[in-house]
Amino acid sequence: MTGPVQENILSVQGLSVRLCGENGTDILRSVSFDVPSGMIVGIVGGSGSGKTTLGLAVTGLLPAAMERLSGRIIYGGRDISGFSSAEMRVIRGAKIGMAFQEPMSAFDPVMTIGAQIAETVLAHEAASGPALRERVLAALRSSGISDPVRVAAAYPFELSGGLRQRAMIAQAIVCGPNLLIADEPTSSLDIDTQGKVLDLFKELRCSLGLSIILITHDLGVVRRTADRVVVLCRGSVVEQGDVRQVLTFPHAVYTRTLLEAEMI
Ligand SMILES: Nc1ncnc2c1ncn2[C@@H]1O[C@H](COP(=O)(O)OP(=O)(O)OP(=O)(O)O)[C@@H](O)[C@H]1O
Ligand SMILES: [Mg+2]
Repeated sequence: MTGPVQENILSVQGLSVRLCGENGTDILRSVSFDVPSGMIVGIVGGSGSGKTTLGLAVTGLLPAAMERLSGRIIYGGRDISGFSSAEMRVIRGAKIGMAFQEPMSAFDPVMTIGAQIAETVLAHEAASGPALRERVLAALRSSGISDPVRVAAAYPFELSGGLRQRAMIAQAIVCGPNLLIADEPTSSLDIDTQGKVLDLFKELRCSLGLSIILITHDLGVVRRTADRVVVLCRGSVVEQGDVRQVLTFPHAVYTRTLLEAEMI
């Protein structure tokens, strides 16, 4: 008898990215990892290890200065690595949601939060009037915001850091994606607020059936939130596996160094 098949919502296979130009440096070197459906996978590594580049490569948003040399990106069983920018636009935001480190710079300062989340819906679907408004309020509510009407009417600068981050998560989930990529989503928050936002990720995983890639430099965030971890060092995966296993019995010297740095 065989056990249940654990399908992967995302599988990155041999992804290499380098800076364009004759002496282009390698930014990602044959990176491979899977995101099993319904799991939270932490991508951890020091500054400049390529974490953000990895998220951008998966969503087809590599900066012009970088090129993908090789690798397959299998999303929902389909290889999307050859997709055009128009095809990627259909997936990005709707199927793969994204949340970034600094909501203050990601949100337009002169538009209300509600109008910006509505714009995300309208980029993918025809909706209007009360139905659109309810979609926006429901996403804010799902993100743990108890007074969604006030938050929807607010401008980004009027909200606390924690509320802005929740609003950004609302924007990332409003179209009902099945994969969320969150890049340093809690780095700008105080420790208490950080814990609450990380708990929100775990709730969303259960309530919406989301799979999540959690990009962070902080092993504490991974330990608290993720099921699996991928350790990146200068563009290469040095170790990956079950969080408890990797953080309790690290094989790579680099993982041990990260763990030691945590104790200082
Ligand atoms: N637009 C760009 N043009 C040129 N080089 C870049 C660009 N963006 C990033 N890099 C370089 O690519 C490498 C990986 O950067 P990346 O931002 O992916 O790292 P990171 O792990 O996210 O770091 P951090 O923890 O500081 O966010 C770094 O050496 C960085 O200097
Ligand atoms: Mg980064």
